[in-house]
Amino acid sequence: MDDRSFSAAQDFLLSVKTFWTVDVFTKVKAEYQANIGNLDNSTSETREIEDLLSDSTTFQYFAWLERHLQRFKYSGRYGINTYYSEKRNTFSNILSNEERSEDYLELTQGFELPDYYRSVDIHQHPGGLWGDEIAGLVYERGARTTTPLMGSAHKDLHHRFTDLALKDISTPKDILDMGCGFGKSTKPFYDILNESKIEAIDLSEPCLKLAAHDAAETQRKNVKFRQINALDTTYDNESFDLVTSTMLIHELPAKEIGKMFAEAERVLRPGGRMVHLDFYSLPDEFTKFIHYGHSERNNEPFMKGFAELDLHELLAEKGFINISIVPFSEAEGVDPNNHRYWRFPWTLITADKEVF
Ligand SMILES: C[S@@+](CC[C@H](N)C(=O)[O-])C[C@H]1O[C@@H](n2cnc3c(N)ncnc32)[C@H](O)[C@@H]1O
Repeated sequence: MDDRSFSAAQDFLLSVKTFWTVDVFTKVKAEYQANIGNLDNSTSETREIEDLLSDSTTFQYFAWLERHLQRFKYSGRYGINTYYSEKRNTFSNILSNEERSEDYLELTQGFELPDYYRSVDIHQHPGGLWGDEIAGLVYERGARTTTPLMGSAHKDLHHRFTDLALKDISTPKDILDMGCGFGKSTKPFYDILNESKIEAIDLSEPCLKLAAHDAAETQRKNVKFRQINALDTTYDNESFDLVTSTMLIHELPAKEIGKMFAEAERVLRPGGRMVHLDFYSLPDEFTKFIHYGHSERNNEPFMKGFAELDLHELLAEKGFINISIVPFSEAEGVDPNNHRYWRFPWTLITADKEVF
């Protein structure tokens, strides 16, 4: 497939996704609001909303577009996966872990991926983030259009997150980015913190290779990408001043989330801080209904389990103090409490390790 056809097809899909985000979502919400008086509140409210809307053509159209626009984005004639499969040889420098990126990367021979990770094609990404050597490239291209309303004029949400993570603390000497993917969440840290040492971990070899390749391009020496499980990191106790993650928690089964927090607590120095960006604050039943539906329609099976956890209680149980869980504005001008158009329930989760 030629580059122009691929770009045109992906641009078209993005336009339809924007139509879905604004027009179709608004119509579904209006239909819900017009019929809200018909809810009898006898079962769980999200279940009732489902009953209310399941025969609505507008809602069916919304749900169909949600599932299949994402499928077209990755698969089929103009899908990202198809494009990169055909272009494998062009990217052999990244895929083969060229010498230049070796300093930035540590992979583990015979690394065992958890079952939950292999059991689903996350985000409808064929083969998941680990199944094919091109998975990092595919994920990077897909991530460019995850939030269609952000546009390119805004400061990227990862930079907004980095600013908040570093706010009100002295410059951390050692930072751990858990679930770093292809390094998008790590780069804003290693770009601005020349004096800090940054460790970035993930399960996905193809993503880590791409992250290391990009870091090698900048020639920064303060970052290392390693294939390590966030649930059992093997770092020494009290090794970091700041532990972060962006969009990792909702990808973990609910029963594993406590393990990740316990691990973060263990590797933090006393007085250290943990900051996560994820999808948690669901201000009303309709937003919850839409979010749980997204979890099913987009192959993100653990989103609901995470959203239903009592996060404050869990963090307190793991020993954290100064716990803050607040809606996050993913782009300039976006009211984080407003779900007028479809958007993720972005939430900033901050907690500190006590100084004894
Ligand atoms: C949605 S991506 C976010 C990546 C990156 N933080 C970003 O914001 O672009 C979630 C990442 O978590 C990784 N992941 C899932 N479970 C993990 C685990 N147990 N340990 C480390 N990484 C994990 C996935 O491989 C994936 O790269």
